[in-house]
Amino acid sequence: MHNSSLSNQSAASTVRGADPGTVAHGHAHAKAILFGEHAVVYGSPALAVPLHGLGAQAEIRATPGRESRIESQLFAGPVRAAPEAMAPVVAGLQAALETTGDPDAEVLLRIRSAIPHSRGLGSSAAVATAVARAVAAHRARVLDHATLHTIVQTAETVAHGRPSGIDAWAVATHLPIRFQAGQANAIDVGDRLIFVVADSGHHGSTAEAVAGVRELRDSQPGHTNGAIARLAEITEDAIADVRSGDRVTLGQRMTQAHAVLASIGVSTPTLDGLVEAALSAGAHGAKLTGGGRGGCVLALADSDEAAEALALALRTAGAPRTWTTEVSAT
Ligand code: PMV
Repeated sequence: MHNSSLSNQSAASTVRGADPGTVAHGHAHAKAILFGEHAVVYGSPALAVPLHGLGAQAEIRATPGRESRIESQLFAGPVRAAPEAMAPVVAGLQAALETTGDPDAEVLLRIRSAIPHSRGLGSSAAVATAVARAVAAHRARVLDHATLHTIVQTAETVAHGRPSGIDAWAVATHLPIRFQAGQANAIDVGDRLIFVVADSGHHGSTAEAVAGVRELRDSQPGHTNGAIARLAEITEDAIADVRSGDRVTLGQRMTQAHAVLASIGVSTPTLDGLVEAALSAGAHGAKLTGGGRGGCVLALADSDEAAEALALALRTAGAPRTWTTEVSAT
């Protein structure tokens, strides 16, 4: 059984030597939380899967004597003039430069990301990971997972307040991970899993969703703690299903988890509608993914053909975009 802790070196950066004149690149992929969102904030386990088809790229070069600049879809200009929305990127860049021993370096950072933001797909963590990997590659360094994680959490704290840390691990790891109380472990996959991700078209604020659950826990502790315990139980059972390759049961647990998440107020009529549409179109199961209150729905398909039909059904039901992704058997 493959259950390694993630202490090996972090890949996905291109090292071209320490010459400051070189251009270096870093990459990271999106992620989806398959089970355990929200419960993970209270110390329960969660399971996240990589979305390899959706990625973020960073490119960095030294520009000695000229002030540092960022060029991205959101902003192009000097770092000092970057708007509030870029604050996580700036924090990640600064943390990466400090960690690699050159805090005052003057650089040009270019970012390209295909990951939509505020959809629960780990966009901010993936961009920060790509930036950290590019900075490290530029210094001819390969960051170990723990160092990379610390840099990305610096950016994530600016983006989301007090993130559990699951995104920072999930976007940097090629395998599904079980995450609990700051620790991430890769888990084996018994049989190939095909997921369709459907965008609800609505932004979801993870910070607001987390705050909403906290308020509910204060006002209705019995109900909320019961839901958190149930989510933890579903997650542990689902990890066993992923390992054994039982996608029928796995799908049923996804639908159960969605109902529990809805009971703590993080679903919306749009997300519920997409889950219903996925089930009617033959999905093994479906649920919201990530913080909720917007964002995306994740549905488990039986085959590539079934995934195509599922994606079409979800778009017909109102999803502006869908992505199909595979988690390969290990
Ligand atoms: O919305 P996302 O994908 O960033 O996921 C957040 C997951 C939560 O459990 C809701 C919050 C957290 O920090 O773990």
